Amino acid sequence: MARYSLVTMPGDGIGNQVLPEALRVLKAVGFDAEYIHADIGWELWRSEGNALPDRTIDLLAKYKLGLFAAITSKPAKEAGAELNPKLRGKGYVYYSPIVTMRQRFNLDICVRPCVSFAGNPLNYIRKKPEGGFVEPQINTTIFRQNTEGMYSGIEWTNPPDIVRAALDSHPKFKPFAHVPGRDLAASVRIITRSAAERIVTAAFEFAKRKGFKAVTICEKPNVVRETSGMMEEAAREVQKKFPDIQLWRNNIDAQLMWLSKNPEDFNVIVASNLFGDILSDAFAGLVGGLGFAASGNIGSEVAVFEPTHGSAPKYAGLNPPIVNPIATILAAAMLLEHVGEYDKAKRIWDAVAAVVREGKVRTYDMMRLTGGPNVLEQGAASTPQMTDAILAKLREFSSQVG
Ligand code: NAI
Ligand code: MG
Repeated sequence: MARYSLVTMPGDGIGNQVLPEALRVLKAVGFDAEYIHADIGWELWRSEGNALPDRTIDLLAKYKLGLFAAITSKPAKEAGAELNPKLRGKGYVYYSPIVTMRQRFNLDICVRPCVSFAGNPLNYIRKKPEGGFVEPQINTTIFRQNTEGMYSGIEWTNPPDIVRAALDSHPKFKPFAHVPGRDLAASVRIITRSAAERIVTAAFEFAKRKGFKAVTICEKPNVVRETSGMMEEAAREVQKKFPDIQLWRNNIDAQLMWLSKNPEDFNVIVASNLFGDILSDAFAGLVGGLGFAASGNIGSEVAVFEPTHGSAPKYAGLNPPIVNPIATILAAAMLLEHVGEYDKAKRIWDAVAAVVREGKVRTYDMMRLTGGPNVLEQGAASTPQMTDAILAKLREFSSQVG
């Protein structure tokens, strides 16, 4: 029997192109796993009225480890129009399967490494005052709270009377008291102390494991006093258990300004949900963007790893496929690290780093080409060719060791 069981969820569009590539790499490093396919995404919504069917939830509940690629998501009106006619008018409502999965399994810790690979033409560079450029080595991991904050989903346009009355009871609501309900929208930013402590603890534990000297919390406690205040308070409390690691505090806006000044100084950043989302996209942009951005959604029982990108429908029909599989391959490496297979994870990172450094095999995004079927003629590697290059490096390294 295999040592691990992994639920694989390719989803829609290019998800079906990149997920098999990550599985090739997992097999090549000898990850001893049984791979169990599970259905997710838009096609399931269309045919069954549920983008995250119960059978997929059952598989995740049972095996607790998932690799997910990407889904297509569309606004409510289009969702209704694309639903199987037999199911229409029966009360089916489209919910994002990713958000549902995070909530159902309380995947409250989102980890997003943003690491620059030397030789990547998409890396951030900075002008030197004396002329010329530097290309700083960026190694930042963002810890984003994944279930609360601005994503709590507690919001209204035209709040019901009881909510309106509660708002009226707050002195700061006076300037809005005269606004008619239909012209007033409110979203509630919920932060709980236990979730705040969990995300901050995850960030400190990671810093300790990797030998980083500081964790930076990015909030806005001078303005959003209560919720950002609670995040910072949790950070101060948790830091006491990690005396060797400093706690740095930067307001979210200042941190984004410093993005172009000294991003290499920040190794571990922790933030609430929306701020963490913004930070991780911003940092990902410095190290190659969507083709390189992977993330883990980690709960106390279940963990699901994924590339950050979506289903890129405009490229889904291309054969051979052209999209960059590295984000999904790095998601697989994160998964290995999560289960304690550090050596296998490192071999994948090293192989990807070697391919990027050599620069002989590059997908279209790494050449800054506009995507399309003709990028292969222009010298871009196809999706499987990129994986082939990574597999060749893995073989090369293992023969050197052996
Ligand atoms: P997207 O991430 O699918 O694609 C945006 C653009 O980024 C693509 O057109 C392509 O130019 C580039 N890109 C994405 N992945 C790439 C890769 N692996 N290699 C090279 N280039 C890549 O975002 P978009 O177009 O906004 O959304 C398309 C669909 O995906 C929508 O239905 C959206 O709701 C869904 N989506 C799903 C996500 C998920 O499954 N986690 C995340 C983001 C969007
Ligand atoms: Mg995002």
